[in-house]
Amino acid sequence: IEAKLSDGPLKGKRILVTSGPTHEPIDPVRYIANRSSGAQGTAVARALAALGAHVVFVTGPADVPPPEGVEIIRVETAQQMQDAVGTALPVDAAIFAAAVADWRVSSASERKLKKTKDGLPVLEFAENPDILHGVSQMKTGRPALVVGFAAETNDVIENATAKRLRKGCDWIVANDVSPATGIMGGAENAVTVISEAGTEEWPRMSKDQVAQKLAARIADSITQ
Ligand code: CTP
Ligand code: CA
Repeated sequence: IEAKLSDGPLKGKRILVTSGPTHEPIDPVRYIANRSSGAQGTAVARALAALGAHVVFVTGPADVPPPEGVEIIRVETAQQMQDAVGTALPVDAAIFAAAVADWRVSSASERKLKKTKDGLPVLEFAENPDILHGVSQMKTGRPALVVGFAAETNDVIENATAKRLRKGCDWIVANDVSPATGIMGGAENAVTVISEAGTEEWPRMSKDQVAQKLAARIADSITQ
């Protein structure tokens, strides 16, 4: 198996994958999170490793176990994820599958908030760094391919197309995460891949199949 993996089309390529949610502390025992399971990012990392890539897998606290055969960097917050991404660079391609919290609690307490003496807590927020935007806009050392994900609940293609241009990434993998689809936390995904060349709607399939199809596209793009 070892020989087979190292002979894949992505042999010698270093690829960053971010995955999972981030947790933003409120106090030492409480945090703000989101419903990302990390399943799609984990599947993408696994599929890239299976094609022979050296995968640096930067993951928030996901529900699913990380893939085997990748370099794992575990983080909790968006700021830690940004630092880990900086450490992972330079890479040949960067895939941003993480559901990064847009805001952190700027008024996070060093002590556990107490019901009795503190009354109702008031949380103040600060905006987290946009990691995908930062890497997409790098002037030197930018990865040859930068791929973002866009989780939308409405106007999916319109929102994701605008998002690709705003971020400056090469591809956006858009999906509808409205509760009725069951995609957030489920085993399947239905994505549309948006690039400069146009939009391509993929049929609903397992997250593993989406990952394999995407990994094959990534290999085509960075090895041609
Ligand atoms: N992303 C990131 N850092 C952030 C926020 C998002 O790297 N602070 C990445 C995600 O990993 C994803 C892409 O940006 O690949 C789009 O994330 P999304 O939350 O859909 O976009 P936002 O720009 O945060 O816009 P929205 O207001 O729709 O949440
Ligand atoms: Ca967001």
